[in-house]
Amino acid sequence: MAAFDFNEITPAAPIAPAPMQLAVAVVEAVPAVRLDLEERLGPGVTSFERIEDVLPRLNGTPVVVVLGPSCSDAEVLGSVERSLAGRSDVGVVLVADELSTTVLQLALRSGVKDVLTLQGDPLQIVEAIERVGSGLSSPTAAAPAAPATPDTGGEGSELGRVTTVFSTKGGSGKSVIATNLAVVLAERSDGPVCLVDADLQFGDVAVMMKLAPSHTIVDAVTNIDRLDTSLLESLLSTHESSGLRVLPAPLEPAFADQIGAAEMVKIVEVLRRFCSHVVIDTPAYFNDVVLGLVEASDDVLLVAGMDIPNIKNVKIGLQTLRLLNTPMEKLRLILNRANSKVKLDIGGVERTLQVSADALIPSDVVVPQSVNKGVPFVHSHPKSGVAKSIRALADRLSEADAEVRSRRG
Ligand SMILES: Nc1ncnc2c1ncn2[C@@H]1O[C@H](COP(=O)(O)OP(=O)(O)OP(=O)(O)O)[C@@H](O)[C@H]1O
Ligand SMILES: [Mg+2]
Repeated sequence: MAAFDFNEITPAAPIAPAPMQLAVAVVEAVPAVRLDLEERLGPGVTSFERIEDVLPRLNGTPVVVVLGPSCSDAEVLGSVERSLAGRSDVGVVLVADELSTTVLQLALRSGVKDVLTLQGDPLQIVEAIERVGSGLSSPTAAAPAAPATPDTGGEGSELGRVTTVFSTKGGSGKSVIATNLAVVLAERSDGPVCLVDADLQFGDVAVMMKLAPSHTIVDAVTNIDRLDTSLLESLLSTHESSGLRVLPAPLEPAFADQIGAAEMVKIVEVLRRFCSHVVIDTPAYFNDVVLGLVEASDDVLLVAGMDIPNIKNVKIGLQTLRLLNTPMEKLRLILNRANSKVKLDIGGVERTLQVSADALIPSDVVVPQSVNKGVPFVHSHPKSGVAKSIRALADRLSEADAEVRSRRG
């Protein structure tokens, strides 16, 4: 049989004529599903059982590889990542049986550009191929000069650390801690740092930082199918004095219903491709968005105030996270208003929660004052004890991050 050559492939029928030749390869182990995908994509598509079969056939012609549902596991996606890392002539789209947070995370971490489901509108797959194909370049094409804009992420580059600030008690200090921590990290970090307000109904990060955002999470979700680093970057607001990038919560609580866990996780996965650190503020309850974000995070800062209802709620929150098999190494207990004269001692709280505190944030009147001014207290009162405690927390997170990176080599 003659050796397969991608140059012989004509573009799949539905793809708009592109200035360069573009081939489409389907990879699916189950014959019936493979056939189904072939039929959906039209003539000109070539099918393979395994990703390994595609590799020897790559010859520089831009190729969009459509992975079928049998490829949605860690092993296959790992091999896709290893084989295709850094290749600008190959783009990968995954068509999964269902869009779970785990599949989405695995896929995006493996360099897959888009994830869709078989149940969705068949046109979506064609559109995804067009989108991914238009971003490919042929190494054999004339003068593939340096990109006009710097490559701000993508396969092969280090992913930023993701820190979610959570509490099962409202008003415990999540937003002030998330905002001030993010500002400190932004000022120290070489790369961009982004604060995401995932308190989708009542988020107040923008108000706390006196920002008048032009875009919010809603715009990122509306464009979720074509969300890449440059599009997402263009939707972020900037806190001028620190350089912190901010993705604010929707302006109307009603929009929260339109935003699911898969979308939020995808946004965070795209952010961590070009940000050194992503800090996420959350609402005071578990929902699928919070659970998806907890799962996608490197650290979960569990904020507890120093009173009995707070400790009771945080204990329930911890139990829930344990039941959900959240790795306990991710969890860091943050005791807020830790100097309050409320007859609760820190050791007692730690014993009750069976976790030792990673940070003690004192109670200080400068906190509400700074909230009302819209200036983070690490800026308005940099010498205060509360600002020092946030800088110490940032030190701990940076140390943990440096440790992980040095272990990875
Ligand atoms: N360490 C502190 N000292 C003094 N006041 C504090 C401290 N931490 C938080 N506060 C005050 O408590 C209030 C609630 O804080 P914040 O909005 O950060 O809580 P939250 O957990 O985000 O609340 P929600 O669950 O409503 O989102 C704010 O007015 C803030 O000024
Ligand atoms: Mg809040």
